[in-house]
Amino acid sequence: MTVRINPSILAADFANLERDIGTIHSADLVHVDVMDNHFVPNLTFGNQMVGRIQEVSSIPLDVHLMIDNPDRWAPGYAELGTYSVTFHAEATTNPVALARALRDRGARAGLAVKPGTAIEPYLELLNEFDQVLVMTVEPGFGGQTFMSEMMPKLRILREEVNRSGLDVWLQVDGGITEQTIITAAEAGADTFVAGSSVFRGGDPTANILNLRTAAAVHIH
Ligand code: DX5
Ligand code: ZN
Repeated sequence: MTVRINPSILAADFANLERDIGTIHSADLVHVDVMDNHFVPNLTFGNQMVGRIQEVSSIPLDVHLMIDNPDRWAPGYAELGTYSVTFHAEATTNPVALARALRDRGARAGLAVKPGTAIEPYLELLNEFDQVLVMTVEPGFGGQTFMSEMMPKLRILREEVNRSGLDVWLQVDGGITEQTIITAAEAGADTFVAGSSVFRGGDPTANILNLRTAAAVHIH
């Protein structure tokens, strides 16, 4: 199985995003956290800004929408030409219709769950998605501590993906370090979002390599 490392530009310098994206050439995707100050108590940027990031990044974008009413807003992010668009299960009224709208617009469709949200109700919808994001912190801020108690969700998802034979990526986001990435890989994750541990200290290229190496040994 392939390890994917998606640095989160939430931890980059917002006044120098193009420069900072230029330091992560070895990344698989650029993780872009869209927050609306309603679904989460923090505000980042919206469609116009993501469109500009899409124009300057040579690495495809993995958009994580932490917003209310993704049914209304998510398709517009796919229309920018982004690689994947992930919306929260808690915020949508019709996850299947929205996933299909995203795929129709050429993006991979992702479903995210907050720490308090069970994964079981969504297992029967896995064929509608290209990736599932298990939040390992409460969404809203970088630099928080990894919640290892989310690992049972990943094990359930990994078992179901393997049983069904579907090609669904299993992503974790929040508190990923060279240590916690091992725990997440062992539990079944294959796609790892990392903000602080890529951009906040040391050389981003070396940080990405260290994360990738740690995960590769433990991935299923
Ligand atoms: C949190 C965001 C994450 C965040 C992760 O709500 O979804 O993508 O950037 O940051 P770290 O890796 O610092 O926990
Ligand atoms: Zn995120």
